[in-house]
Amino acid sequence: MPKQEIIISKDLKQDVEGAIARCQHDRLFVLTDSTTLRLCWPLVSAFPCFKSAQMITIGDTDENKTLDSLSSVWTALQKGGATRHSLLVNLGGGMVTDLGGFAASTFKRGMAYINIPTTLLSQVDASVGGKTGINFGGLKNEIGVFNQATSVILSSEFLRSLDMKNILSGYAEMLKHGLISDEQSLAELLRFDLEELDFAELGRLVSKSVGIKERIVEEDPTEKGIRKALNLGHTAGHALESMALEKGRPVLHGYAVAWGLIGELYLSVVKCDFPKERLRQTVQFIKLHYGDPLLDCKQYERLYEFMKHDKKNEGDSINFTLLGNVGDIRINQQATKDEIFEMLDFLREG
Ligand code: GLY
Repeated sequence: MPKQEIIISKDLKQDVEGAIARCQHDRLFVLTDSTTLRLCWPLVSAFPCFKSAQMITIGDTDENKTLDSLSSVWTALQKGGATRHSLLVNLGGGMVTDLGGFAASTFKRGMAYINIPTTLLSQVDASVGGKTGINFGGLKNEIGVFNQATSVILSSEFLRSLDMKNILSGYAEMLKHGLISDEQSLAELLRFDLEELDFAELGRLVSKSVGIKERIVEEDPTEKGIRKALNLGHTAGHALESMALEKGRPVLHGYAVAWGLIGELYLSVVKCDFPKERLRQTVQFIKLHYGDPLLDCKQYERLYEFMKHDKKNEGDSINFTLLGNVGDIRINQQATKDEIFEMLDFLREG
């Protein structure tokens, strides 16, 4: 899989113009969602490169990450005369970059695409690393392919329109990157003042965070081994996210990941000797900013069921990524049902 170019933008106009010019194309399409069209498209719409672009807009929440939306994008590309030599620019959050990446990867067996992620979550995670796809049959990201964008352009200009919940949602993935990387990266994330946001400093932390993900993806683009490090917090996190959705009280992905990190760091202490002091510091930070998942013991069986159906599992066992220390990654770890319930107890009471 060719390596994608990650551009930490200092000059959005110059960087977008440059990336589009470098990717030769006959026609240009821009995919966005209704909210991004209103809040972010005005920041780039006057750029000369977009003068002849054809716009495609889809609905703006994860419920729109469907086969129907995908089909509407394929139809718009077809009607707009797209060829295998056309270029799709995905402007938006993870829903747009995932769905748009999949639409581009499959249209006429694949055309090039560029991601311009506009949320913190998509900047530090979804837009980087070539995972594309849609939700299907009630399961998230069930259908998709690995195929990297030609370029990913990251600009902190877009982050200014985000509310605090969406900043926190992305920040959870940054915490995960710190935990799988090194003590210093984790310490600066735990020190960062989320009450008084310094966007320049946030931009620096984003760039460092993406660098951590980029190195892992480069080593293992299709998640056969070390890329599983990026699943830290996600086995428990996805279960919490799915259960919240089922109860009609959805939570943002990053909130579920933050709580999933608490659970899986606890498992790391029990099974891999992760230092208790690092667990304490991380739990304190997460509880302060993300609150509690408000669990009830009656929900444990359902959460366990969700974990059993996680697509990261192999065979019948539930697969976790755990840590022996900050940066000491232990992939393919299994836990018994009792250990998992103990983890949920910690998450509930901890
Ligand atoms: N979101 C985790 C990964 O890209 O592998």
